[in-house]
Amino acid sequence: MKVPIPLTNAFGEEFEQTLARTCVAAGLLPDRADLRNKRFLTRSVAPHVERLKELFNRLQEKDASSGLERYWQKGSNPENLRLAYFLSFMPGNLYRMASIWSELSRLGYRWPAGPGPLQQLRAIEFGAGPATGACGILAGERFAPLGLPAEGNFALIEQDRATLALGESWFADLQLWLGGPAYATRPFHRKLDPSKGWLPRTAPRFNLWLMSFFLNEFEAPASDIARSLLDSWDKHLDDGGLVILMEPAMRLQSRRLLELRRELLAQDAARGGSMQLLLPCLGHQRCGALEDAEDWCHEEVSWWRPPYLRILDDLTGLDRKSLPFSYLVFSKTRSSRAELLPALSGARHTHRLVSPAHRVGPDWEFYWCGQEGKRRLRLKAADQEIERGSILLNAEFRGDQQASRIDRLSQLI
Ligand SMILES: C[S@@+](CC[C@H](N)C(=O)[O-])C[C@H]1O[C@@H](n2cnc3c(N)ncnc32)[C@H](O)[C@@H]1O
Repeated sequence: MKVPIPLTNAFGEEFEQTLARTCVAAGLLPDRADLRNKRFLTRSVAPHVERLKELFNRLQEKDASSGLERYWQKGSNPENLRLAYFLSFMPGNLYRMASIWSELSRLGYRWPAGPGPLQQLRAIEFGAGPATGACGILAGERFAPLGLPAEGNFALIEQDRATLALGESWFADLQLWLGGPAYATRPFHRKLDPSKGWLPRTAPRFNLWLMSFFLNEFEAPASDIARSLLDSWDKHLDDGGLVILMEPAMRLQSRRLLELRRELLAQDAARGGSMQLLLPCLGHQRCGALEDAEDWCHEEVSWWRPPYLRILDDLTGLDRKSLPFSYLVFSKTRSSRAELLPALSGARHTHRLVSPAHRVGPDWEFYWCGQEGKRRLRLKAADQEIERGSILLNAEFRGDQQASRIDRLSQLI
C-alpha cells in the first residue's frame, strides 16, 4: 500500500514523547525516560509482550475459543500487561488504520459535504482497547485528510475499564499533539455479545464505524456476524457513513474476514443492497483468494517505527518494520464506486496487486485480483513504482490464470 511519506515519518521523537506522557500520567511508566530504558523494558514490558505474542499466535493457529477474556485478566501484574499492549501492539494498529484512511484519500474519497447527519462526526469503535482505531483516524486525517467535519466525537466500547480509561487519555494527548479539531470521546464500558446485537435499540446513529483486530475475538459463523452487522448498520449507520473492519493478516483470520465479506455482500444484496464495498477489492465480485482453500489476502505497510519500539522489538524478537493486515472498507450509499473514488473514474477495468511484485528478467511478476478473480501476470518493467496494493487501470492482457502478460494499461496508481 502506498502511504504518504509524512504519515510514514510521523511516529518519531514527538510521537514517542506524547506516548510517554500518557503512560506516566496513567501510572504505567515511572518516568518518561524509561521508555528507552533497556533494563525497565526487559524486566517490566518484554515478558508481557511475550505473553501477548503467544496468546495472539494461538489465536492465529486455532480459533477464538482459547478464552481471550483473558489478556487483561488480573495476572501477576495487569498494569504491565496493559503497558506491554500499549507500547508494543497499539502503535502498529494505529498506523495500519491511518494507512487505510490514507488509501481512501489517495483514491480521492472525500467525506460527504453539505447539510445532513454527516456534518458532525459521530464515530464509534468496538473493542477499542486503548482507542487504537480512533487514534488511527486522527493520524490518518492529519496526514492524509478526507475532510472530516471539525466537530464530533468518538464513542469507545471496551470490556476492560482500565484500558478504556487509558484510551481516553491517549486519544486526548495524541489529538493535542496532532493539532486539528478537538473531538470528544464517549467511553462505554461494555462486554459485547454479537448474538444480542452490537448496539442497544435506543442507541443513536453513527457515521464512522471502526473495528480493529476485534472481530477475530468471536467464534460465531461469518453468516451470523454478517447478519448482526447488517442489522446494526440498518438502524445505526447514517447514509453516507463509512465502515472500516481491520483484522490480522494470518491465514485463518484473513479467511474469516473474506468469508465475512462474501456473507455481507450476499445478505446485503438480498436486502436490497445499501452497502458499497470500497476497499481493498475494487468490486463486489467473488473473492479470488477464497477460491483456493490455502489462500488468503492481506495488505502490508512500512513506516519508521518510534525509536523505543525498535529497542523493544529487539528485546522481544518482533520486527514491526512492516505491518501486514487484512481489511474491508464499506460505505452505506447508493453512489457508485467511481463517484466515491474519483481516481478510478473513467476506468473500464480495475485490478489490484495482491502480492509483492518480483523482478523476473525485464518484467515485474505478481498476482492481481479483479472481476475475473486472481491471476499471475507479468508486466514489462518501466520506471513506474509497483507494489502490493498498486492499482492498474484498463489493463489489456492475454494468457491464462497461471501466466498472463499485460500488453497495455492506461494508468498505474
Ligand atoms: C486485540 S484487542 C484490539 C484492541 C484495539 N482495537 C487495537 O486495535 O489495538 C481486542 C480488544 O477487544 C476487546 N474485547 C474483546 N471482546 C470484547 C467484547 N465482547 N466486548 C467488548 N470488548 C471486547 C478486548 O478487551 C481488547 O481490548
